[in-house]
Amino acid sequence: KASDDSPVTAGPGALKIKIDGKQRVFDIDDPKLPDWVAEKKLTAGGYPYDKKMKKKEYEPALEALQIELVKAQAWMQKTGHRVICLFEGRDAAGKGGTIFVLHQYMNPRSAHTVALTKPTETEQGQWYFQRYVEYFPTCGELVSFDRSWYNRAGVEPVMGFCTPAQHEHFLEEAPHFEKMIHSEGIHFFKFWLDIGQETQLERFHDRRHSALKNWKFSPMDIAGITRWDDYTRARDLMIGTTHSKAGPWTLVRANDKRRARLAVIRRLLLSLPYDGRDPAVIGDEDDKIIGEGSSLLL
Ligand code: ADP
Ligand code: AMP
Ligand code: MLT
Repeated sequence: KASDDSPVTAGPGALKIKIDGKQRVFDIDDPKLPDWVAEKKLTAGGYPYDKKMKKKEYEPALEALQIELVKAQAWMQKTGHRVICLFEGRDAAGKGGTIFVLHQYMNPRSAHTVALTKPTETEQGQWYFQRYVEYFPTCGELVSFDRSWYNRAGVEPVMGFCTPAQHEHFLEEAPHFEKMIHSEGIHFFKFWLDIGQETQLERFHDRRHSALKNWKFSPMDIAGITRWDDYTRARDLMIGTTHSKAGPWTLVRANDKRRARLAVIRRLLLSLPYDGRDPAVIGDEDDKIIGEGSSLLL
């Protein structure tokens, strides 16, 4: 058996999956993407747009927001404000790419990304939140978590890496933990990037057949293909029990990576009271793309 983080060179063969009430066969190793996936990769799950945002619109918008981020970072350094952004979502939701553009022009000395692997034996014996706390920001820092303690509400219960009791305990404890983060005065954001099922399949297929992205494709992803509904249940329970005043979930519809990335950065900028903030540059939120709690789930 391959280890959990080794890239995948061959899939499990043809998988039977159910999508939209239809029985389908999906073979990740077949270089040809099935038409039923290609046709719905953007619109899957009731996504509100039928075209990706145009590059010509995306690139200048992104750059303008990145300039505001540079200002926000300067303000953080001057005033000592701290920020935590946590990114969750199914495999291939686009967490990595979103974090990439968020950090692209920030000074890496005070803006860190944290993507932890599965807990070591020592960590398994510790308080569950302990290994994450170690990476929390000091004055002037922004820390992005690419996956987070919410593993215990998603991949762990779905794949059987924790017990049902541990899962339940986590859902009770997380709001207390996050209340402490909030009352400590840290600006705290929780983003759930939501994608449709065909969108996920298309991205897995792309990763499987791309020499550049193959490292992103793991046995965990293959196992997840047939566990879509389990992940849906886990997600709904997680958002239902851990959406709080101190730690609200921000939902982002992410079938189109470009709109999703802009929406995340825009939300951050609109929430941080930095000097010289230019509302005209930041622009308005698109409420078809970003919302609170479970309001936008696909
Ligand atoms: P990625 O974050 O690139 O999607 P994977 O899909 O391989 O990585 O894994 C998803 C998450 O599951 C990761 O955060 C990983 O640390 C976690 N994970 C993998 N195996 C285990 C395990 N045995 N116990 C606990 N967590 C695990
Ligand atoms: P993807 O999941 O396909 O969106 O890939 C995202 C990855 O592409 C990131 O983790 C980066 O390493 C890389 N990347 C390179 N340039 C860019 C860019 N301009 N925007 C987003 N991601 C980029
Ligand atoms: C991404 O596209 O970066 C994903 O959200 C990470 C993953 O594969 O799980």
